[in-house]
This record gives sequence, C-alpha cells and structure tokens, in this order.
Amino acid sequence: MHLAHLRLRDFRNYRWLDVDFQPGLHLLMGNNAQGKTNLLEAVYLLATLRSFRGVGNAQMVRHGEKGFFVGARIVGQHEHDIKMYWSAQERKLSLDGQAVSKVGDYYGTFRAVVFCTEDLQLVKGPGSRRRRFMDLLLAQTHPTYLPLLQRYVRALRSRNALLKQRSSDEATLESFTREIINVGQRLICLRHELMPRLSPLVNSAYRRIAGGHEELRVEYDPAVKQDFAVELARSRPREQLYRSTLIGPHRDELRLMVADQSAAQFASEGQKRSVAIAMKIAQAEYLTELHGTPPILLVDDIMGELDVNRRNAFLPLLHLAHQSRSQVFMTATEENWSPGQGAGLARWEVRDGSLRPS
Ligand SMILES: Nc1ncnc2c1ncn2[C@@H]1O[C@H](COP(=O)(O)OP(=O)(O)O)[C@@H](O)[C@H]1O
Ligand SMILES: [Mg+2]
Repeated sequence: MHLAHLRLRDFRNYRWLDVDFQPGLHLLMGNNAQGKTNLLEAVYLLATLRSFRGVGNAQMVRHGEKGFFVGARIVGQHEHDIKMYWSAQERKLSLDGQAVSKVGDYYGTFRAVVFCTEDLQLVKGPGSRRRRFMDLLLAQTHPTYLPLLQRYVRALRSRNALLKQRSSDEATLESFTREIINVGQRLICLRHELMPRLSPLVNSAYRRIAGGHEELRVEYDPAVKQDFAVELARSRPREQLYRSTLIGPHRDELRLMVADQSAAQFASEGQKRSVAIAMKIAQAEYLTELHGTPPILLVDDIMGELDVNRRNAFLPLLHLAHQSRSQVFMTATEENWSPGQGAGLARWEVRDGSLRPS
C-alpha cells in the first residue's frame, strides 16, 4: 500500500502542493523550518485524522487563510481517493467521493506509524500518552474499537458533568453509570487481548536495539481490577468528594519495565529512547502481521540522533516496506545516514513549502 498522490492547499507553510510518490523510500532533505515535518504531519493526518504534534486542526491552517485541504490517492489492493477540508465553519471528509459519516469505518483506509522526538513522551509522559498509544493501535486494528471509545468518552463526560452539579439527578446518573460499565468492560477486554500480541514484538524490537542484554516488558494495568460495577459503586463516597469518575479505562496504565524496573523512573535517557522506538517498531510490525501489508512509515528527524544499533533495529522494517511496495518517508537536514542505495530510493529537496526531486 502506498501514497501515490498528495495534494495540499493552505496546509501549514504549503500554499499549493501536488506531488506523485512511488513506492519505496523517500528522503526529504532540507534546512530547518522548510516544511519537512509539516509534510509528514499531513500524511499522518490523513491516516489518523489527527496531528502527531498533538495540536488541533486550526493550527494547521496556513496563516491568514480560512481553511486547509489535504487530499490523497492511496494505491494497494484497492485504490482510494481521500479528500479532507477543514475550516472553523466547515469540516468535510470524503472517501471515494462519499462523505464519511462514521470515523470508525474510515480508520482502516490506510495506516501510518510515525517516529519522532515526541515519542519519548511515551516513556516519560503521563499515562494518557500510553493510553493514546493503545487506543490508536486498537483503532487501527479493530473497526469496533473507536466507536466504543467515543461512546465511553461521551458517557464519561456527561457523568462527570452530573457529578459536578450540586443536586444530581440519580436516575440519569444511573443511566450513564450503566453505559460506562457496559462500554468500559469491552474496552478493557480489547486492551487485555492486545497485550499477548504486542509485548513479544516490543521485547524483540528492544533486544535488537539494546543488543539482547535486557528485557523490556509491557504490562497492561487496568484501573478496574475485577468488577467494574462493584468497584465503581465502592468509589461513590470519593466521587462525591472529587466530583468526578475515579475508576475506569480512562485511568488505565501501560507499564514499561526494563530489566524488571519502571523505565520512567529508572531507565537512562538512552534506554528511554530505545524503549520509545521499540514501542513504535512493535506498532508497525503488529499492523503488518495483522493486515499483511506494512503501514506507511513516517520517520521525522530521528535517524541523526540514533546510534548504529538503534538504526539497525529499523532495517527489517525498511526491508519489509521495500519488499511489499510500501513506503517510508524520512526527513533529515543532512544525509548522515543512508539505508543503502538500491532501487526505490527517492530524494527530495524541501524548501519553503515546496518539494522537488533532487
Ligand atoms: N499554520 C501555519 N501557516 C504557515 N506557516 C506555518 C504554519 N505552521 C507552521 N508554519 C511554518 O512552517 C515552518 C516549519 O515547518 P516544519 O515542517 O516544522 O519544518 P522542518 O522542515 O524543520 O521540519 C516554519 O517556517 C513555520 O513558520
Ligand atoms: Mg522538522
């Protein structure tokens, strides 16, 4: 599967871009602040409907313009045409000429995994970062996951709003309670099921990076230990105090343990970086295993900072991408690392919101 055509209008510093891409490895070279990361951001946005920079859509509108347009042609077993327009007044997303009404149905159209410096937050950041990692991976692999998550978040918000009111309406509270228990249990179940498939991949990627001396374990630690309904009822007195729902999948953790110790607390800076990359490599490999074709890999700036082992840990993925006519987009300010010349390597120069072969 590959991105055959990308079209940008008023997206960040791109006023107008129409470009064809072949399968294979694409090196995007250019000085700082020319638009390399912006281009990866646009591709990721098409795949996941979010920015990997964690910002809202308004920030991606070119300064002084009303809205942006991002369009693509995806070629794989099937061909797809995607069009996305966003402005404060109007949002449009269409797949093959049809308006997309259910985001869950759209999610599998094409998959992308990004490697960027922000990934370190997977290890260092709050639990919400790791929950987002699980959520994205499950949304990319289970069509039912995203709609469930959306239902959960809606019911949770309503329930919290009620808890904040002084005189709460018990019957309505009870209906939201039933909904979060019902939907929450299914989310917990899907998160549980992911672990035995994900953790061997994470560990093996980590061993390649760290040289095989240490184990990395990924453990799902749900906030609900046994029975959501019982534990939620038990938390009622504390809920009255904090006026918010204190237990449920929105409080889950994903523990990352290097040599049996918490990576966030005890790992060195270098180990944390390796853990973060191992998680992303595992994400890409898991998607490949499940769908038979690799996702599009977006590698932002990180090759320069990696030592030989960490770079080499990428090689199986790059080979796989190459063999299966998928794509890798890799940005750099200078060519300090080349994964081999070979066929399918395209070099681009990115300058001031434009792209040209170099
Ligand atoms: N919404 C926007 N409208 C116009 N320009 C933007 C917008 N957001 C970012 N930029 C510009 O994009 C450039 C940074 O692009 P980026 O892709 O991050 O650079 P790099 O090539 O270093 O990865 C900066 O010049 C910045 O001012
Ligand atoms: Mg950049």
